Amino acid sequence: MNQSISQYIESLLPSRNELFQEMESLAEKERIPIMEQTAIDVMLQFMRMQNPAKILEIGTAIGYSALRMSEALPEAEIVTIEIDPDRAEQARKYIQEAGKADRINILEGDALELLEKVKELGPYDAIFIDAAKGQYLKFFNMYGSMLTTQGCIYSDNVLFRGYVAAETVDQRRFRSLARKMKEFNSCLMEHDEYITTIIPVGDGLAVSKKR
Ligand SMILES: C[S@@+](CC[C@H](N)C(=O)[O-])C[C@H]1O[C@@H](n2cnc3c(N)ncnc32)[C@H](O)[C@@H]1O
Repeated sequence: MNQSISQYIESLLPSRNELFQEMESLAEKERIPIMEQTAIDVMLQFMRMQNPAKILEIGTAIGYSALRMSEALPEAEIVTIEIDPDRAEQARKYIQEAGKADRINILEGDALELLEKVKELGPYDAIFIDAAKGQYLKFFNMYGSMLTTQGCIYSDNVLFRGYVAAETVDQRRFRSLARKMKEFNSCLMEHDEYITTIIPVGDGLAVSKKR
């Protein structure tokens, strides 16, 4: 999205409570990549319309998006996976502080290795993929089978700073990730079991609904 339009929309968004502001500051200070405000705003609106009873999030970081989802959908149960122990610990503290420990269950570990545990806690009405960009297709295929019939999968960063649309990507470390994200997007758009829309908001949000 054009930067000035994005800034304009952000300026219209209601201010967040003190805890969220503290988390946003920490994320900025420690360069923890939480979801962009314009994108989380769109995702939360889709979720309010969808009203999922159970949500699976892949990529907790410090618990920011999990708490934003829980605020938007107070009745929803959220299972969220984080591979980094320090971030998972920080997320636990914030979730405790927000009084949401009974609603948000953090699983610490690699989402690629937690299939059985995640399955036991499912099925899920919504899945939010926001972890290692190179693994999106694996996450989607692994956990898509745990989605209820009316379920939706939300995937963040699918436009990956615009690299997916660039003819060439100069930085080597981004080139292969951009290629993987392009493959993921093509796979979503051609999928027999899902119908997907890609929204150019934040870093790109894909919303996939079961056909
Ligand atoms: C973009 S951040 C998540 C931001 C969070 N959803 C938010 O908006 O507040 C991605 C997180 O995914 C975690 N992660 C990366 N690969 C993972 C994996 N295989 N399993 C679980 N977590 C993973 C990273 O440690 C990082 O904290």
